[in-house]
Amino acid sequence: MRYTHETMPQTILVSRRVIEETVSRLAAEIANDYQGKNLVAVGVLKGAFIFMADLVRQINMPLEINFITVSSYNDGTESSGTITVHQDITTDLKGKDVLVIEDIVDTGYTLCFLLEHLKVRGARNVRLCALADKPSRRTHNVAIDYLGFTVPDRFIVGYGLDYDNRFRYLPDMYALEEYDDNC
Ligand code: PRP
Repeated sequence: MRYTHETMPQTILVSRRVIEETVSRLAAEIANDYQGKNLVAVGVLKGAFIFMADLVRQINMPLEINFITVSSYNDGTESSGTITVHQDITTDLKGKDVLVIEDIVDTGYTLCFLLEHLKVRGARNVRLCALADKPSRRTHNVAIDYLGFTVPDRFIVGYGLDYDNRFRYLPDMYALEEYDDNC
């Protein structure tokens, strides 16, 4: 499938106002659950970088920040079916409470891999916070402990999400329009 990507996306799916309210709600839930614990927030790059930055500034407690860089989508819209860890976390997770921060769960393949990858590092527990969930595409079961909102089966860009590395910087989330080859 192809999408219009030469021009700016037009259809706002989730506005910056809704995103902001959602981030505040999630931060309050997380702070409430993790008070007094050794929390390590692990952002999944690149897509989660904006969400992570907004979220951790609203979690009102001390926490450690780390990142892992993985990809399953090479340069298009379909998962390659292979998870590549480009840069692993650089901290000892033994006995710590790990919260994975992800922008979107689609097939669930990336998070299935990642949650297991972090558990074997000795974390006390590993939970998942995802801003968006696209359950219609799920092929691998993933429990999302802190969920922002569900989204329809559209290709979404903005607020960290990309199409071929474009549009991550947009402050709202947009649905890309499909491109008709016959036009
Ligand atoms: C996106 C997203 C998730 C993953 C979800 O990352 O950030 O990590 O895909 O898809 P899945 O549930 O089908 O596995 P992507 O591989 O596009 O890399 P990026 O974060 O660098 O954009």
